[in-house]
Amino acid sequence: MHAADLHTYLENHETKPLLRFITCGSVDDGKSTLIGRLLYDSKRLFDDQLATLQADSVRHGTQKEKLDFALLVDGLAAEREQGITIDVAYRFFDTEAAKFIVADCPGHEQYTRNMATGASTAQLAVVLIDARKGVLTQTRRHSYICSLLGLEHVILAVNKMDLIDFDRGTFQRIVADYRFLADQLGIDRVTEIPMSGLDGDNVTERSHNTPWYKGPTLLGALESVALEQRRVPEGAFRLPVQWVCRPDQNFRGFAGELLGGPMAVGDGVIALPSGRRSKVASLHVGCEGVERAVAGQPVVVSLEDEIDVSRGDVLAATAGPPEVADQFGAHLLWMDTEPLKVGRNYWIQTGTNLIGGRVSEIKHQIDVNTQDELAARELPLNAVARVDLELDRNIPFDLYEQSRQLGSFVMIDRQTNATVGAGVIDFALRRAQNVHWQAVDVDQSARARLKGQAARCVWLTGLSGSGKSTIANLAEKKLLAMGHHTYLLDGDNVRHGLNRDLGFTETDRIENIRRVGEVARLMTDAGLIVLVSFIAPYRSERRMVRERFADDEFIEVFVDTPLEVCEERDVKGLYAKARAGLIPNFTGISAPYEVPEKAEMVLKTVEASAEELAEALVERVIGG
Ligand code: ADX
Repeated sequence: MHAADLHTYLENHETKPLLRFITCGSVDDGKSTLIGRLLYDSKRLFDDQLATLQADSVRHGTQKEKLDFALLVDGLAAEREQGITIDVAYRFFDTEAAKFIVADCPGHEQYTRNMATGASTAQLAVVLIDARKGVLTQTRRHSYICSLLGLEHVILAVNKMDLIDFDRGTFQRIVADYRFLADQLGIDRVTEIPMSGLDGDNVTERSHNTPWYKGPTLLGALESVALEQRRVPEGAFRLPVQWVCRPDQNFRGFAGELLGGPMAVGDGVIALPSGRRSKVASLHVGCEGVERAVAGQPVVVSLEDEIDVSRGDVLAATAGPPEVADQFGAHLLWMDTEPLKVGRNYWIQTGTNLIGGRVSEIKHQIDVNTQDELAARELPLNAVARVDLELDRNIPFDLYEQSRQLGSFVMIDRQTNATVGAGVIDFALRRAQNVHWQAVDVDQSARARLKGQAARCVWLTGLSGSGKSTIANLAEKKLLAMGHHTYLLDGDNVRHGLNRDLGFTETDRIENIRRVGEVARLMTDAGLIVLVSFIAPYRSERRMVRERFADDEFIEVFVDTPLEVCEERDVKGLYAKARAGLIPNFTGISAPYEVPEKAEMVLKTVEASAEELAEALVERVIGG
């Protein structure tokens, strides 16, 4: 090949449009074969092209071709089997006209999350259907998720046509079924193609087995969508700040991927959520100073004014900035084997923001087969639902239909750091907007000083019958005798009043602890030493409460009594009943107790008397 030809070739390659797509469908619908076919055939086209350039027509023998193809497919299948629990396999191939990245996800229902991960960055979905089976539940589920994640274009690959003798009637029936579904889901564009991945019919080459089919081949359809995607979006820019760089005293740059539209030096900028305004002073793409950058480029921006901007903030065009809110109506796909609980705290990631938040209400779960709305108290694995989402702080956001990056979120488990949910923002809820925190002049330290003490929240956690209340009661008496101002919140008692509407399901216990945590916080704010005696069996909620207090204000005390001992004591006779199956969700028997990992104090009731332990506790509270 001449150097000049190679140069032109590489340049073309650089500027070719890129299409990201996902393949989805059921387990045995021939996905590996089809992807193998695409990779193999496009590689062959590519080789042919090189061969022509080299004026050296190297042709593969048919026998060898078949063997190579079979090996490639086996390799893909094996790789996916191994990679199955990891995530999504992304494969790259290209043709003369375009480049492609295909997200190859396993088809089993338990891997729906992988499918959603792949779909979230894709521009198009190839939905595979086994021509013998037609539209299946999994086809519906995957199509639903595609539409939820904003994929407007689907290629319906009716595969294995060779096994039904390329029967046109069957193809048309499947097409009609799918169009009905696509209409329901609001998927606007569907391109249907009859094909055989195994033999290559209508994959990269038109098949003589389907003379009645006049549409494009799969590769042809992918290429034409890729060419359409070339348009650079022209809109108001957004820069979610990924990090702040300060190479020296004189320069402060905000780095991230530019979204939305172009940005130029001199453009007006609003920093959100603060709302402070400035102008673009300089703009870099990589290390190069530029006058203008376009969406999709990684940029570093400096501003004319010193305004406070940190990671997670968004720099937006003053014309048409995103909105700011902390409560949303959203659609959520739950992806964890542990069901979603209303009120439980998770990390919520939107754009480059990572903040605490929770689902405050499940409006309804959605049956992906029928689109029916079902009542739900929690969400099992793979459930899709309309929920209300509540965040700890205001965030800048766009509706998902306007911006996939700023209109979507993922939920992350705070203990395991696993991604457990993914969702899209439908609208902001305005209800909290007019409720502001009222600043008051008399504060906690003034109130506590008058009482001659430091306010504390002492939380005793442990199994029922572990001795929490006995120790808390003794400790309060001792504190009182020393002239301290105290209050004791006891589970059994609070459940007679404030929390009498709550039972012992996980969701009710989360709410139980949330309310008592808030009450304890108010009382601590009043300057009191508050003793709280609640089982509080979940780490997650104990952490939620802890985070409502200053570091030295909250003292977690684990009353560590083995279950056998609690059961033997059985002061209230509840263990006997629970063993007899008369009390459901009984902590330690039929509901979990998650042992504290970093409690400030551990009191072992089998090693010391309640009196001694209460003494030690008091010492820690007033001394520490
Ligand atoms: S928590 O788990 O939500 O923190 P809490 O401390 O309020 O529980 O209430 C626990 C008390 O309720 C126990 O001491 C016991 O007397 C009573 N109780 C009734 N049913 C249960 C149950 N299923 N599990 C645990 N405790 C129960």
